[in-house]
Amino acid sequence: MATQTLLITGGAGFIGSHVVRLFVKKYPDYQIVNLDKLTYAGNLENLTDVEDAPNYTFVRGDITDAAFLTELFGQYQFTGVIHLAAESHVDRSITHPLEFVMTNVVGTVNLLNAAKAAWAGQMEGKRFYHVSTDEVYGSLHNPEDFFLETTSYDPQSPYSASKASSDHFVRAYHNTYKLPMVISNCSNNYGPNQFPEKLLPLMIRNIINNKPLPVYGKGENVRDWLYVVDHARAIDIVYHKGQNGDTYNIGGFNEWRNIDIVHLLCKVMDEKLVRLPGESAQLITYVTDRAGHDLRYAIDANKIMHELGWEPSLQFEEGMNLTIDWYLANKDWLDGVTSGSYLSYYEQQYGQQA
Ligand code: NAD
Ligand code: DAU
Repeated sequence: MATQTLLITGGAGFIGSHVVRLFVKKYPDYQIVNLDKLTYAGNLENLTDVEDAPNYTFVRGDITDAAFLTELFGQYQFTGVIHLAAESHVDRSITHPLEFVMTNVVGTVNLLNAAKAAWAGQMEGKRFYHVSTDEVYGSLHNPEDFFLETTSYDPQSPYSASKASSDHFVRAYHNTYKLPMVISNCSNNYGPNQFPEKLLPLMIRNIINNKPLPVYGKGENVRDWLYVVDHARAIDIVYHKGQNGDTYNIGGFNEWRNIDIVHLLCKVMDEKLVRLPGESAQLITYVTDRAGHDLRYAIDANKIMHELGWEPSLQFEEGMNLTIDWYLANKDWLDGVTSGSYLSYYEQQYGQQA
């Protein structure tokens, strides 16, 4: 008999797959149900090492489908939810904002409703964990400023507006219906299994293929980078130790200007690909800036470090090496996710229908 039945949404995506792996391996007494729609960003190949584990089940489904969620919560007596499913790419939110409203806002409210109904009268021991982003705080312009848990929300893109809205709904359900919940807001993740639309895997793929490296604007925007496994470790700690109703910022105090991180990638990859020093950097191409491009994100992670005892396990250089080595060793994965062949993998495993 499982001690917990845990629903993880978006578990076939980048961060979700690392969270599923950690929980399936670390908690053999938990039953882990991974619910994912398998959009372009979801890929079950990310989870081949745990797919046969006795405490793991995959369910294909859409969080925008309220009736499906009611049925799922009826089928499993979930004791907790870790909610990662989302549309996650800022550039796509600029061209398709409504998709972000549907999944990130409506999908989250559907999940909240399903949990509230299933847990009515028995909230004790339950937990709804909403995984969010530092982008809800907006853009920093003063170099001395950091995002704190108390920083006012000021989302600037359709993506961050949809995430901010979902955060507000989670807090509103806690206040109004006493739904037990916790939220974390994390900085930019990097590592294996990230879809190559995001900066680092896109640049790695283009360096491998000798294609232009599109740097938006002047490359002066700053992001705060955290290795994805360290984010998954933080999620484990917040899920188990976070205070009910509280928020935790997660980040590695590791800020980089985009142009500097791209130059670093080029340098390391020249060595790994046995190219002449400076060869890959010649691929750098400055392109039109992202509309409304946030200048700087920087997380103050002192609260989670001091209250919950989390800290990043990897130095950045070590994480970058692991990441680059993973993509070099998994060129088939890179080609597969962009060609769409992973969908055939899904269809082979589970058939066409959800
Ligand atoms: P991702 O795009 O790699 O994965 C998202 C997953 O959600 C995919 O597997 C996709 O199939 C699934 N999904 C999308 N729509 C769905 C729907 N309607 N129903 C069910 N499943 C659906 O995203 P990611 O980068 O792993 O981010 C995961 C979460 O973490 C998101 O909520 C994101 O906002 C948050 N986050 C991401 C970062 C980052 O740097 N990537 C940083 C902080 C927070
Ligand atoms: O801060 C957390 C957020 O980090 C998450 O909530 C998002 O889900 C995640 O996508 C990420 O958002 P960013 O917009 O910061 O990530 P992205 O990889 O798209 O871009 C990182 C920076 O690099 C950003 O300043 C834009 C720039 N960029 C991006 C791409 C894809 C380029 O210069 N060229 C590119 O081709």
